[in-house]
Amino acid sequence: MIIEAHDVGVTIGRHQIIHGESVRCVPGEMTALIGPSGSGKTTLLHTLGLLLPPTSGRITADGAVVSGSSSRTRRTFWRDHAAFVLQDYGIIDDEPVAFNVAMRKTRSGADRTLRASLEHVGLSGREGELASHLSGGEKQRLALARAVYRDASLLLVDEPTASLDADNRQLVVSLFADFARRGATVIVSTHDDEMIAACDHQHQMNAPAAVAVTR
Ligand SMILES: Nc1ncnc2c1ncn2[C@@H]1O[C@H](COP(=O)(O)OP(=O)(O)O)[C@@H](O)[C@H]1O
Ligand SMILES: [Mg+2]
Repeated sequence: MIIEAHDVGVTIGRHQIIHGESVRCVPGEMTALIGPSGSGKTTLLHTLGLLLPPTSGRITADGAVVSGSSSRTRRTFWRDHAAFVLQDYGIIDDEPVAFNVAMRKTRSGADRTLRASLEHVGLSGREGELASHLSGGEKQRLALARAVYRDASLLLVDEPTASLDADNRQLVVSLFADFARRGATVIVSTHDDEMIAACDHQHQMNAPAAVAVTR
């Protein structure tokens, strides 16, 4: 899925958080949203994932305008296309690993896709463990396993390497790059040089607007 921001701005209250952001993200490639802390990377990522409506400009998916669409259209977008790896990982701590991947009760013995998804992220054999027992890096890989399981065509990732040690960082970088190689559109907000280097494109966030929004 080709996902594009066209001159997107987000204003919350009187605060212009992002402005004039245009980026084109295509299948098979990983795009980095880069800029210093506070430059609006997370905000643009959420906008591209239809979690947050832009105040100005628009988001298109395969050329069709999807920003400002009905909640039904957005639900279809999330159900059929998009997967998120956000900063709190979106993991349900008091459910087992298998439930977190499939988002329903499933018997891994009978679900080859589930086993393959966990194997892909290096969590083989962990199906029955409570998600709360996993480390931060493992939880993040679990969130990726969910995207692999659903065969998501669009993956939106917020600062995936921020809280990881060097070994986990390298693993996570290569897993996301690999997900793109398999044909998905991958968008990553990051300020990690290793992650940025692994991306096919870098989108530099615009500097903050010089003047605050006036009433
Ligand atoms: N809901 C909100 N209300 C008010 N300010 C916000 C909100 N979300 C983000 N901001 C502010 O917008 C700026 C950009 O935030 P963010 O998108 O998280 O940047 P980044 O991910 O690049 O660090 C920050 O100054 C942040 O405090
Ligand atoms: Mg952020």
